[in-house]
Amino acid sequence: MDVVITGAGRGIGLGFVRHYLRQGANVWACYRSDESLLRELEDDNLTIVQWDIADDKIAHASDVFPAKLDLLINNAGVYGSNKQHGQSLENVTAESMLSVFNVNCVGPIRVVQQLKDRLIMAKGKIVNISSKMGSIEDNSSGSCYAYRASKVALVMVSKSMAIDLAPYAVRVLSLHPGWVKADMTSQQGLISVDESVAGMATVIENIDQYSPGTFVKFNGEVIPY
Ligand SMILES: NC(=O)c1ccc[n+]([C@@H]2O[C@H](COP(=O)([O-])OP(=O)(O)OC[C@H]3O[C@@H](n4cnc5c(N)ncnc54)[C@H](OP(=O)(O)O)[C@@H]3O)[C@@H](O)[C@H]2O)c1
Repeated sequence: MDVVITGAGRGIGLGFVRHYLRQGANVWACYRSDESLLRELEDDNLTIVQWDIADDKIAHASDVFPAKLDLLINNAGVYGSNKQHGQSLENVTAESMLSVFNVNCVGPIRVVQQLKDRLIMAKGKIVNISSKMGSIEDNSSGSCYAYRASKVALVMVSKSMAIDLAPYAVRVLSLHPGWVKADMTSQQGLISVDESVAGMATVIENIDQYSPGTFVKFNGEVIPY
């Protein structure tokens, strides 16, 4: 199996890299700023690629990836400025809304535009890592304008990709990893990276059980959106 993972230098992305290497897959791990934890893995099946998904320029040579790709995990994401004050109705700025949107929603589109033909060749799978904070139905606490808006938009993008790529047998889902102990949550959270990744990998394996573009939690539950 050939797998590409974005935002793979730490956190959940790095957890996915470890998981798929353990499965014997060939993994193309894309990092933005720090490849040191990936280098430590020292695995022959691992290719490390620098890719800032906020950037329209493609920094890597396009032939770094294989002709056929079985799985793309659009994991890279940012929270944006401070949870308490920076994303309140009073304080959120156009600049922060747009920069978070550029990474969390436009980024996965850039990546799919680059890799689509390879995924079609393999009749592969695309998973976009959103967040339950992007569920309109689940929003009972308000605020977090930049993050919530970018993640709900990603769910919509996934649904359109699922419809557009269905004729090529490419399957697309949005996933919620749970509340995970990672830098984004300041190592708070209810579950470990390994638990989250193991759950999401099971969902990915069983992707055909879900209708195209569904929004699914790491434990397999469908999230209303
Ligand atoms: N942790 C949670 O509880 C939780 C809950 C719901 C959803 N999520 C989602 O899960 C995904 C992974 O989150 P995490 O908890 O692992 O976060 P994290 O520890 O903050 O890691 C984020 C990763 O995304 C990368 N990244 C950020 N901007 C990028 C860009 N422009 N181009 C390429 N890579 C970029 C980061 O690279 P650098 O090292 O260069 O910054 C880092 O590798 C995110 O999409 C997040 O929104 C997480």
